[in-house]
Amino acid sequence: MAMRFDGKVALVTGGNSGLGLAAAKAFAAEGAEVVISGRDRHKLDAAVAEIGGQAIGIVADVSRVQDITALMREVEGSKGRIDVLFANAGIARFAPIGSVTEAEWDGLMGTNVKGLYFTVQQALPLMRRGSAIVLNASLAASKGVPNASVYSASKAAIRSLGRSLGAELVDRGIRVNVVSPGPIETPIFGTFGVGADDLAAMKRQWAGDNPMKRFGTAEEVARAVLFLASDEASYITGVEVPVDGGVASF
Ligand SMILES: NC(=O)c1ccc[n+]([C@@H]2O[C@H](COP(=O)([O-])OP(=O)(O)OC[C@H]3O[C@@H](n4cnc5c(N)ncnc54)[C@H](OP(=O)(O)O)[C@@H]3O)[C@@H](O)[C@H]2O)c1
Repeated sequence: MAMRFDGKVALVTGGNSGLGLAAAKAFAAEGAEVVISGRDRHKLDAAVAEIGGQAIGIVADVSRVQDITALMREVEGSKGRIDVLFANAGIARFAPIGSVTEAEWDGLMGTNVKGLYFTVQQALPLMRRGSAIVLNASLAASKGVPNASVYSASKAAIRSLGRSLGAELVDRGIRVNVVSPGPIETPIFGTFGVGADDLAAMKRQWAGDNPMKRFGTAEEVARAVLFLASDEASYITGVEVPVDGGVASF
């Protein structure tokens, strides 16, 4: 396969697990110098070993703007620039509206929306004309999911940011697009805060309701991310690409 990212620097937030790790591996396989970030040093070290090549891992909690600033300073010091930003770090939590606390609201919004927003803001000084940003939203941005109101609202905000920032950055030659995965098997399912039986029932239902009758894979999402980040998508900005087996559409 052609090396679409030869000589390019790709920063993947939340690159030590799941969708971020699959994308980081795919970027590296196509020639990119990959930088991944996350909160967990051990997971970062394991992921860097898996990605191989010149990958580096930097600890940064995106819910803290000072961490993001420090992350970008480190990227600037070691790589000098960012050609591709995959703003992917995110968390999920399921709860009915009656039990959602202020702290849970702030936690989800602080990571998924504020964290992503300031990641883009702080990366921009390192991004030149021709660079690309991909934001990770979700099927939940456009489809009602019971007990996922806060998560879904955070993802709808990300979809909106894809449009606004796409419009704002187009004159600078920086494209901004959104990928919206459907259900994809990753470690995030262990973090929803629901019991094992409920989780198993939820996953069975999601697979059964999907037109393709299955979950997607992280590699299937990575392929869309790489397309949007590559020069093949040179006339594409502000769009959302669902990778969801068709479930948002039918
Ligand atoms: N899996 C799905 O079905 C699905 C569907 C739609 C959208 N998504 C979205 O895809 C993204 C990745 O999720 P995933 O499924 O790959 O789950 P995952 O395996 O749990 O990965 C989440 C990643 O985000 C990082 N992260 C979480 N909070 C962070 C913080 N405050 N600062 C920095 N990094 C943080 C985690 O690293 P640390 O733990 O080291 O911080 C980890 O690398 C999320 O935005 C999620 O909403 C997933």
